[in-house]
Amino acid sequence: MSDSKEKGGKAAIKTEEKKQHFDDIYVQKDPVAFKERIIDALDYISDDFNRQTFDRLILPWCERQAGDGKTLNYVDLCSCFGNTTLAIAHGMNVEQIRENWKDTESCRRVAQPRRLPLRTTGIDISGNALAYGKEAGVFDEIIEADLNAPSADARAAVERTMGEADVVISTASLVYLQLPAIEAVIDPFVRSPGEGYLLVNFLNPFALEKADATKRLLLDKLEFVGSTASRHRRMSALEQGNYPGEEWALLELWVLRRKGKA
Ligand SMILES: C[S@@+](CC[C@H](N)C(=O)[O-])C[C@H]1O[C@@H](n2cnc3c(N)ncnc32)[C@H](O)[C@@H]1O
Repeated sequence: MSDSKEKGGKAAIKTEEKKQHFDDIYVQKDPVAFKERIIDALDYISDDFNRQTFDRLILPWCERQAGDGKTLNYVDLCSCFGNTTLAIAHGMNVEQIRENWKDTESCRRVAQPRRLPLRTTGIDISGNALAYGKEAGVFDEIIEADLNAPSADARAAVERTMGEADVVISTASLVYLQLPAIEAVIDPFVRSPGEGYLLVNFLNPFALEKADATKRLLLDKLEFVGSTASRHRRMSALEQGNYPGEEWALLELWVLRRKGKA
């Protein structure tokens, strides 16, 4: 998935797919570079659409659960610093996230309270992004895991948390995971009893065959609820070179739920 250098001879970069990677930003100690180099520089507006889709297809159920006095277990899978959780759990729009993450001081606390009673868990490979999210109050719990090759402890923690989850969101991120890893992460959620919802993103025009395979896998295990199409962000110069004539990366936002639980 990521670039790799061939050993010996002339160093060559192997690129399996033509999407820009932002790995150096994900491992920063705070989200200011994420805000400047992704949200600002690339018009990263997709969290407005994630929030709208959540509000249309999942929020009414969450509000009913809250009305019954329940606290829902919420998981942000490949959360990074938690921008989508700010949108969904705190009801913030992209402008408000931008303002909150404008500098190292203001990003230290989430600017708006949660709008639902949630127990939030962030899962990501970036320990720094998760540590930030916990410190700032975005996440109550964090699990640092390479989901493509988790340690035994990380796998057990992910399985437990996914098994207990009522709402899972995974935005702009399944593209980073291999299919067996997606299956391993989703299965404990699928097997659990009770109603439960999953909000996922599929990117266009990147890795479309992989996205199709991911869709088939998810549809095999979960029930389709609804979807939205939207802009995601502007394509980087590298991506525009790889996909001439395209200016915007697009998103499909899908909501699925545990089968037969509606
Ligand atoms: C594009 S960001 C998505 C962040 C956020 N969900 C959003 O929509 O903006 C992808 C995230 O996936 C994480 N990631 C990439 N590979 C991973 C892996 N193998 N296991 C766990 N997390 C991974 C990165 O650290 C990064 O935080």
